[in-house]
Amino acid sequence: MKTEILRMLKSTGDYLSGQRLCEMLGVSRTAVWKAVGELKEEGYVIEAVRNRGYRLVEGADVITQAELASMLHTQWIGTRLVYFDETDSTNTRARKLAEEGAPHGTLVVADRQTAGKGRRGKSWVSPAGTGIWMSMVLRPSMSPMSASMLTLIAGLAVVRGVKESTGLEAMIKWPNDAVLNGKKICGILTEMSTEVECIRYVIPGIGINVNMDGFPEEIKATATSLKLEAGRSIKRSLVIAAVADNFEYYYDIFMKTCDMSGLRDDYNKSLVNLGREVLVLDPRGQYKGKALGIDGEGSLLVRREDGNVSAVISGEVSV
Ligand code: BTN
Repeated sequence: MKTEILRMLKSTGDYLSGQRLCEMLGVSRTAVWKAVGELKEEGYVIEAVRNRGYRLVEGADVITQAELASMLHTQWIGTRLVYFDETDSTNTRARKLAEEGAPHGTLVVADRQTAGKGRRGKSWVSPAGTGIWMSMVLRPSMSPMSASMLTLIAGLAVVRGVKESTGLEAMIKWPNDAVLNGKKICGILTEMSTEVECIRYVIPGIGINVNMDGFPEEIKATATSLKLEAGRSIKRSLVIAAVADNFEYYYDIFMKTCDMSGLRDDYNKSLVNLGREVLVLDPRGQYKGKALGIDGEGSLLVRREDGNVSAVISGEVSV
């Protein structure tokens, strides 16, 4: 019911009488009053004026189950939505849910992670009230070999979702970091479970720095937040909804061919490395070259100093 009340107050944008809410929801005035009280406790500012009713004062950056459900307008992401005020890691939660049979599109979001995971075994600091910590359960019918491309799609969905919801022009640093003015705003960790030749599930986990006012000394030079770049607070639920929307859009295109052929142009347009010199940190030996964009398999094409073009399949490149 809280989700419904939020939806109605948001779409009206004005006062809505208690009586009208009761009629629309088919519940008592006490039930409406109780739900409004709970929403206020969760952080919403809701004005109650005699003879006029309730009005939602927009702006609070609240994420709750009801807030997220009222903001999502996706077809299949979030049909099952699991929200935690606090959890160890949304990826770990999503994995457990997937093992228990959670359906394709299950979305897990937390306000705080106590054991957030980064790539290469690093931890991911995830304080309350400031970031987006979200993971999805996907069950694509395709070869495990193609799964790494889902990470590229997540990166694309983040930059497009951030643009739509905030106006900020984030770019992708191959393969899937999202950067603003050269500093990282988002990291993606994709985990997978496979069975012989097929995928049981894939969990793309997305962490976005949203309303941080600063970063610890050791990452200050390389990390930023949407708030620091925009100069204003950003509503996280709006960004989550836009990222989910874009992920769905790009995923559906991707699944037609199970490769990046239909998304290559969109991806390359957002690629910060495009046309720039990159240093490829190949374990067999580093080399420099010019980034030409990704190919249909998601590999980064790099023209080496000797003129040959190499396809970088995995690993790191630095700008
Ligand atoms: C990176 O190292 O760049 C990847 C960081 C990924 C962090 C996100 S936050 C949501 C999800 N849950 C986790 O434990 N990790 C990912």
